[in-house]
Amino acid sequence: MSSDIPLADWTMGISRSALQDMLTTCARPDMLSFALGLPAAELFPTEKYAQSLARVLSNDPRSLQYGPPLQRLKQQVLEIMRLRGVHCREEQIFLTAGAQQGMHMLTRLLLNPGGRVVMEQMTYSGFQQVLQPYCPTILTVPTDLDTGMDVDAVERFLREEPRPSLIYSVADGHNPLSVSMSVEKRRRLVELARRFRVPIIEDDPYGLLFYGDSCMPPLRSFDADWVCYVGTFSKILAPGVRTGWLVVPENLVAPLSVIKESIDINMATLTQRAVSDYIGTGDLSDHLPVLRAEYRRRRDAMLLALQTHFPTGARWRTPESGLFCWVELPVQINGSELLRLAIDTEKIAFIPGFAFHAGNGPCLGSALRLNFSANSTAVIEDGIARLARIVNGLLSNRKLDDRRALH
Ligand SMILES: Cc1ncc(COP(=O)(O)O)c(C=O)c1O
Repeated sequence: MSSDIPLADWTMGISRSALQDMLTTCARPDMLSFALGLPAAELFPTEKYAQSLARVLSNDPRSLQYGPPLQRLKQQVLEIMRLRGVHCREEQIFLTAGAQQGMHMLTRLLLNPGGRVVMEQMTYSGFQQVLQPYCPTILTVPTDLDTGMDVDAVERFLREEPRPSLIYSVADGHNPLSVSMSVEKRRRLVELARRFRVPIIEDDPYGLLFYGDSCMPPLRSFDADWVCYVGTFSKILAPGVRTGWLVVPENLVAPLSVIKESIDINMATLTQRAVSDYIGTGDLSDHLPVLRAEYRRRRDAMLLALQTHFPTGARWRTPESGLFCWVELPVQINGSELLRLAIDTEKIAFIPGFAFHAGNGPCLGSALRLNFSANSTAVIEDGIARLARIVNGLLSNRKLDDRRALH
């Protein structure tokens, strides 16, 4: 039975996201999922984290009380940012309950209702959800799959009045497109932000999950005044800890505290202490290379399986960072139809590319986002072979239909 409770106007257009639907579908034990950006559960440092939790609970009486952000964790975040190539100060760190909350708070701080936001046509859907209550004008720019965001298109929007309130960017291991932005474009984007006085929200969950020799310099490393950096422990430790951080100009910290208080009063005192204790053991520094090596193996297994089984005409790049392969199939394939068949006949799930589409421009209906972090190499090989069978079957049917149409 539906209720008659009147909802706020902005909720008129909302529906469950494709990712939320997938969370339910993929929870089925018989499902092979390439759908979500789940880190590998078997690599979570469960025992060490359990020891940290137990230590904190028995040694620190404040761990179950309300309390301020943990200074020690902020100092540890400074070290992580140093690994990321950013030198910042403790006064610029703001602890959050994950990247999603960080983006919520920054958006609340920077965007007026009906304001203008610059982002890529294909963008992390979680950020699109953050924007919804503000009913903004979304200004979308294309993305080059080798070099990232079209910075010239960004400049055109920045020259317009009224000026946009913010630019959203995932410069490393883009979700869903998997591209990492070229250094040249990073420099230019930041230079534009500074020149036009429009802040960038740099969402960086994947910057430390790189598969080459070193990570790319984040946007924040080029500018401390116009880049608001969003970091998270979700992909490098575990999403269940719901702990992340912002690196922002110092004067934003006080208003962010007011916003944070209005949302959930303060950081989860127990979790921030346990995360800090865990980092204090030195295990995270050992854990990161393990993650990178294993995800690289899984990425390579996926690339090889795509090469072996997918039809000519399918295209993808080698992701240098992050957890996804972006695959563009021949246009005869319809992503929704493929997903339905994949779930019904092979119990395989993925996210069709159009689920990430922002704004009103044209959208390639035959693209897929495939996650490579959550399954073993053997499962990846098997799953991609089975998915390819469906793709090849659909393509043969289309050819048959075309021939029939000709006769
Ligand atoms: C680009 C991007 N931003 C933010 C998030 C959410 O991160 P968190 O779990 O820290 O809220 C994700 C999760 O997949 C993501 O891919």
